[in-house]
Amino acid sequence: MNDKHLWHGRFSKPPADSLMAYTSSIGFDVRLWRDDIAGSVAHAQMLGSSGVLPQADSDAIVAALRRVESEFESGTFTLVESDEDIHTAIERRVTEIAGAAGAKLHTGRSRNDQVATALRLFVKRELAATARRVLSLIDVLDRRADEVGDAYLPGYTHLQRAQPVLLSHHLRAHAWAFTRDAERVIDAIARLDVSPLGAGALAGTSLAVNARDTQQRLGFGAVFANSLDAVSDRDFVAEATFVLTMIALHLSRMGEEWVLWTTEEFGFATLSDEHATGSSMLPQKKNADIAELARGKAGRVIGNLTGLLATLKGLPLAYNRDLQEDKEPLFDSLDQVNRGLEAVADMIAAATFHTDAMQRAADAPTAVATDVAEWLVARGMPFRQAHAKVGELVSRSLSTGVPLVELVGADSELGPQAAALFDRGVAVQRRSSHGAAGPQAAVVQRDELHRAIAALQSRLP
Ligand code: ARG
Repeated sequence: MNDKHLWHGRFSKPPADSLMAYTSSIGFDVRLWRDDIAGSVAHAQMLGSSGVLPQADSDAIVAALRRVESEFESGTFTLVESDEDIHTAIERRVTEIAGAAGAKLHTGRSRNDQVATALRLFVKRELAATARRVLSLIDVLDRRADEVGDAYLPGYTHLQRAQPVLLSHHLRAHAWAFTRDAERVIDAIARLDVSPLGAGALAGTSLAVNARDTQQRLGFGAVFANSLDAVSDRDFVAEATFVLTMIALHLSRMGEEWVLWTTEEFGFATLSDEHATGSSMLPQKKNADIAELARGKAGRVIGNLTGLLATLKGLPLAYNRDLQEDKEPLFDSLDQVNRGLEAVADMIAAATFHTDAMQRAADAPTAVATDVAEWLVARGMPFRQAHAKVGELVSRSLSTGVPLVELVGADSELGPQAAALFDRGVAVQRRSSHGAAGPQAAVVQRDELHRAIAALQSRLP
């Protein structure tokens, strides 16, 4: 069947070049070769063991598939013009190698259950690798958090200085977001771990195809229940693309902070030379391109997700060729997010924190205003009244130029004890409530994070 199309019996003319150029997917789905071969090996073995094919045919097909596998591994597999996708290419080559037996590979199978099978195998493996990368990034954040000890920086709301927080608390805030991402990845893997093989084109088959047998051979946790659903379900691709998008968003907002932190204006961190770029014209420049692209690439990853969702919307059961459009967004999001996780982890691991600059910024007297109000509350003043009183002192300090600490020290309701709140590092020390930004809560939180990481590690496929 070399150079003949799979459906040549029904047609009197070969496909037009324009049709092939438009509909062929070999340019991108070649990436599924390993998974397509795995699916075909399981299918051929099942056909032999369930007596649909003579054992000798089954063996010949499997041997041919192994040879195709080694051709891919050694880079010697060559495509021909009629190879419209990876599935046709591999079947064509198996038939060249195994002759009449090869022509029996597709018995009781359709490309519809075949492509769904290969794609699920692929996503399962790739997402497991993504989960590992997310855990590596969490590990970097956690190790850096340990290294920086009691260093603190301003915590921000609205990007205005709000209250001092431990740097370790800030780093672990991102780590917690990534633990949820890792959890989502692992959950998505568990949900997609269903074999669609045996669903045929849409309705199953009259042949003695054993779907449970292929499920087990392929290591899927479950087998499909409904053939129409099995071949048309791409929620698993949408879900995978969403969890990747959420990771991209978390990388993006962290990237934005690193762009700010590494400016001269903030001066909170310096990137190592390996993880920064220079300018072609401005000799003094050192740019945080990894952090910027962590921010920039989130846009395209969001685009991949929304494009895919639009493709899936409104498709009638069961398979439609539209579904071929599931792969490029998925592949691109996987590539971008996996590379992003690695680049950002390396960048953070090698960066230098300027904790002196962070602390100077956090020691700004206004960052202590809330503590002064809370000091009054602890002595019985209603919070609203305390808030208004301190607000007035801040306003007076700003208009008169008298430092806030002096106004507090001279105030009859406040005085020297309250003024001591302005001493270096005192405000952050006092953030001791559950999950708070100070050192006591940090010890508890560190243990909690380590438990969460261990739980995720034990669930890694
Ligand atoms: N390349 C196709 C895809 O990715 C394979 C399935 C084609 N099936 C069909 N009935 N035309 O979806």
